[in-house]
Amino acid sequence: MKEQDILENERQKEYIEKACRLTSEFAGKLGRIPTACVVTFGCQMNARDSEKLSGVLRYAGFELTEDEDCDLLIYNTCTVRDNADNRLLGRLGSAGAIKKKKPGMKIALCGCMMQQTGIPGKIKETYPFVDLIFGTHNIFRFPEYLCGILEDTKICEIWEKTDTIAEDLPSERKYPFKSGVNIMYGCNNFCTYCIVPYVRGRERSRNSEDIIGEIKGLADDGVIEVMLLGQNVNSYGKGLDEETDFADLLKRVEEIEGIKRIRFMTSHPKDLSDKLIGVMKDSDKICRHLHLPLQSGSDRVLKRMNRVYDRSKYIDLALRIREEIPDIAITTDIMLGFPGETESDTDDTIDVIKKVGFDNAFTFIYSKRTGTPAADMPDQVSEEWVKHEFDRVLEAVKISAQERAALLKGKVMDALVEDVYTQRPGMVSGRLSNNMIVHFDGRPSDYGRIVPISLDECKGFYYIGSRK
Ligand code: SAH
Ligand code: SF4
Ligand code: F3S
Repeated sequence: MKEQDILENERQKEYIEKACRLTSEFAGKLGRIPTACVVTFGCQMNARDSEKLSGVLRYAGFELTEDEDCDLLIYNTCTVRDNADNRLLGRLGSAGAIKKKKPGMKIALCGCMMQQTGIPGKIKETYPFVDLIFGTHNIFRFPEYLCGILEDTKICEIWEKTDTIAEDLPSERKYPFKSGVNIMYGCNNFCTYCIVPYVRGRERSRNSEDIIGEIKGLADDGVIEVMLLGQNVNSYGKGLDEETDFADLLKRVEEIEGIKRIRFMTSHPKDLSDKLIGVMKDSDKICRHLHLPLQSGSDRVLKRMNRVYDRSKYIDLALRIREEIPDIAITTDIMLGFPGETESDTDDTIDVIKKVGFDNAFTFIYSKRTGTPAADMPDQVSEEWVKHEFDRVLEAVKISAQERAALLKGKVMDALVEDVYTQRPGMVSGRLSNNMIVHFDGRPSDYGRIVPISLDECKGFYYIGSRK
């Protein structure tokens, strides 16, 4: 860590100790342990941030709950599409109603939506009951802000940018056996539809030593699977003093004893190197899953999106990966309704779906984000038209995913048991290396273990299996 990051860490650690005292006073006033609820919207990056907030809260003496009727409620927001914004505002209204009946309650907002120009001001005006607003760049100052609101001050602090990476604070894990690990922050790609570079700032990689140190610590703590997180992991290492890249980092993570599975999110097709394909191919630990967002199969649209690859480059890359690593699952993100799109663009996208044979895809309807170049493009398309095209794409994805899933029938594969399967008593849910889910008869003692499972019955997107 840099000198400045170490100092900031120390400062926040002092605030955590102060927060412990203030929380215990709060508990005294309530006559019980105060409860805190962190609600996460958006991507894995936000989920990891929420674990950090929860870690500080638990350390300070809060009991964590999933019930929003609590003493400290935090919404960690996303703003990638406008429905994410609307969902948040709806929830915030209900939270206000809870607080009315519970005057000591504190409500905090953070995350990507707070980084949007005008949003914090609008929230303060419309939802005056909110106690704390902070953004993505100053999240490491949460212990300090927590002390502030426990002393009944209202805080609204948003930073335009940061180069501080303060990672050495307490953190929770949703699962004891697996964890996300940030390897980089921000994004420099400026795809013309996307708000992320504006709300998460410029791309910054963490030092490899810090990342490896964190993962070793996790392994000592019983973690067997890590998910390396970044908006574009394939450009990891740029701007660091050390000479390294994502493939080198993976090789080093692979050497860590105790880690059995390595995943990563997200890969931008433009930066995926042959060296990375080679490292994945030779690895026993790197999972057989690659999420490779396509967005569109039309060259015209890809160009206007500023994705920096074209359809033939994408198809070549995907097929090369399949050739090198035949058991890999390739999943993707597809967006429909980008300005100027026509039916022939959808046809091109469906053609790529067929040629690559995706194992699954997230499909999104384009959402206009103020401040992005695409928002000012003149030829926005109608919602009705998009819905029709969306159905066509969804159908193609469904067929492709079912075909791919069916190929596994009868195979025996290792599954990491992650959850109980709530829909059928006595069953648990496991995840295969290729990210597919299999449900099978299991016990709570299987939780966090990797077990060989026979994939008996294909249910389209998942399997019902049995122990081998
Ligand atoms: N960094 C990742 C994507 C992060 S956002 C990458 O480039 O792969 C996750 C997905 O949300 C994107 O892949 C895109 O499909 C979708 N998305 C981003 N901005 C959007 C917008 N304005 N409207 C609709 N979907 C969007
Ligand atoms: Fe957004 Fe593009 Fe960056 Fe992904 S790579 S976060 S889609 S700008
Ligand atoms: Fe949303 Fe921010 Fe992630 S906008 S998708 S939570 S980086």
